[in-house]
Amino acid sequence: MRHAGSNARLLEPQPEVADEFALSVVEGLSRPRKALSCRFFYDARGSDLFEQITRLPEYYPTRAEAQILSAYADEMMAEIARDSVLVEFGSGSSLKTETLLARAPDGIAYVPIDVSESALASAQRRLEARFPNIAVRPLVGDFSLPIEVPPDLSGRPRTGFFPGSTIGNLTPPDAVELLRTFKSTLPRGSRLIIGIDLKKDARKLVLAYNDAAGVTAAFNLNLLVRINRELGSAIDVASFRHEAIYEPREGRIEMHLVSTIEQEISIAGHRIHFEANERIHTENSYKYSIAQFQELALSANWTPAHVWIDDEGQFSVHELISG
Ligand code: SAH
Ligand code: AVI
Repeated sequence: MRHAGSNARLLEPQPEVADEFALSVVEGLSRPRKALSCRFFYDARGSDLFEQITRLPEYYPTRAEAQILSAYADEMMAEIARDSVLVEFGSGSSLKTETLLARAPDGIAYVPIDVSESALASAQRRLEARFPNIAVRPLVGDFSLPIEVPPDLSGRPRTGFFPGSTIGNLTPPDAVELLRTFKSTLPRGSRLIIGIDLKKDARKLVLAYNDAAGVTAAFNLNLLVRINRELGSAIDVASFRHEAIYEPREGRIEMHLVSTIEQEISIAGHRIHFEANERIHTENSYKYSIAQFQELALSANWTPAHVWIDDEGQFSVHELISG
């Protein structure tokens, strides 16, 4: 069920709507430089593979951010009022959020927003069992569109939470636009606690996206598995390989799917040609310095209030105030 004025809907069983996916895939693969949106990674298997990524020895961001949250959750939650609503964008498993919820006063409500229904449903079950005094109200939807919290929570003060450096998956102009859009949910004076991966040695970055066990490769290639299943295609997934490189001028990791052969694939009635070694750009993951991210936040009219970093200076968590 959608409530008036919101693009998101309450979590309840729904038939899959493949149209938006088909249109976006065909449009992205018809470009001179083929591209797919990274938000399509997160079907049930993709969400599960992402959880496996967070536990890989090479993938430092989750551990670094979890360390920051454990060390500073008291400070982060100090100003949360009893009637607050904690709104999380791209909540996935909500595992890190437990550290904040454990410090929250009884009576707060938690509204996780995600495109992945499977991730929201299992997070809801786990959180309701652990935190019986917190109302967990998941919303399935795209966080880049204006979100309205459920009507019965609408008059209450809100704090935003956007961990994982998920904003790094957007280009800087799109990240500014997203922070502006968040203001419709987090009005003037609201706080946003947001995780940002920091710039570092390129070798460490490249390893984090090219793990030895091949989980990130499976996560990337799962996009093709999803296209086959949901759009009735017959792409030979084994004819593509995973590639992740650091692009220093842009300050970002780029993930690609590379066709190892010349081939033609068919998607929703469209034939798409690949040269040998032609790539599909599937994800960017921007890395920021603290000053760079604060400047980006300011340009979206969010005022930096505080920043916490982990012991090794790998990851940052910023507190921003909506202006
Ligand atoms: N916050 C978690 C998960 C990060 S993975 C953590 O820090 O570990 C990114 C999450 O954002 C996934 O669960 C994915 O489904 C979700 N996501 C990606 N793009 C989205 C979009 N446009 N709208 C809503 N959710 C999105
Ligand atoms: C969700 N996002 C911040 C992850 C990242 O690091 O950019 C997604 C990911 N892609 C490959 N590994 C992890």
